[in-house]
Amino acid sequence: MGLFKRKPKAAAGNRPVPRHIAVIMDGNGRWAKKRGLPRQAGHKIGAETFRTIATYCKDIGVQYFTVYAFSTENWKRPQEEVDALMELFRKYLREAAETMFQRGVAVRVLGDLSPLPRDILELIRETGEIADTLGPDAATASLCINYGGRDEIKNAVRAIAEQVKGGALAPEDITEETIGAHLYTAHMPDPDLIIRPSGEVRISNFLLWQSAYAEYYFTDVLWPDFKTADMDAAIDAYNSRNRRFGGV
Ligand code: IPE
Ligand code: IPE
Ligand code: MG
Repeated sequence: MGLFKRKPKAAAGNRPVPRHIAVIMDGNGRWAKKRGLPRQAGHKIGAETFRTIATYCKDIGVQYFTVYAFSTENWKRPQEEVDALMELFRKYLREAAETMFQRGVAVRVLGDLSPLPRDILELIRETGEIADTLGPDAATASLCINYGGRDEIKNAVRAIAEQVKGGALAPEDITEETIGAHLYTAHMPDPDLIIRPSGEVRISNFLLWQSAYAEYYFTDVLWPDFKTADMDAAIDAYNSRNRRFGGV
């Protein structure tokens, strides 16, 4: 009775949308396993889903769409899978630079990019340049690659410590804004809604600082199966919540 499991797609565009939606793109491996395919096949379809959902978010007026594509912990995976993911980034960054640009979406990459292969770094630089031509008001789709929330905070602390050491900043002048300004997301608002598909109910080191007051939405749908109707359902759930930010 799958009919009743998913909310029917409401007319897109007439619901209020969060300003910033983030997604932990999970379940690619299980999607492939269910079909007797190699895990890489799931990553490939997952990458297609990213493109579809990022475009949909832009179309319905979401200003920032941020996805977790590769964590600082994902290097632990078999070399073959890591290589396949790097190959996908190569292919995608090249395509993203063109198709997403045509759709008016600025693609950005966030994370500690230093261990990435040189040619991927070059692609990321080119993607950034193309994104810049869309101007500061363009809808942004950010791919978090070699991203870890703790690693990000550690790097921010190091940078701030250097400023203090150099005498440019007094410890008592360090504010929450100082920390936020040293994160990869410095230029964007905190996520309003964080979606995790695949049935896992954990954060897995994603946007630890930025998610302080995010609303979470968990669904059993595997990321490669995630459709625009699933995004609508997540937004409807978000719209039904009462965000109090500690107030009454
Ligand atoms: C998410 O899918 C993609 C990455 C972490 C790169 P997974 O590969 O984690 O899929 P599952 O969780 O094994 O199904
Ligand atoms: C989180 O998924 C990272 C990404 C989606 C990129 P994982 O599959 O790596 O998370 P765990 O291991 O289930 O917590
Ligand atoms: Mg997973």
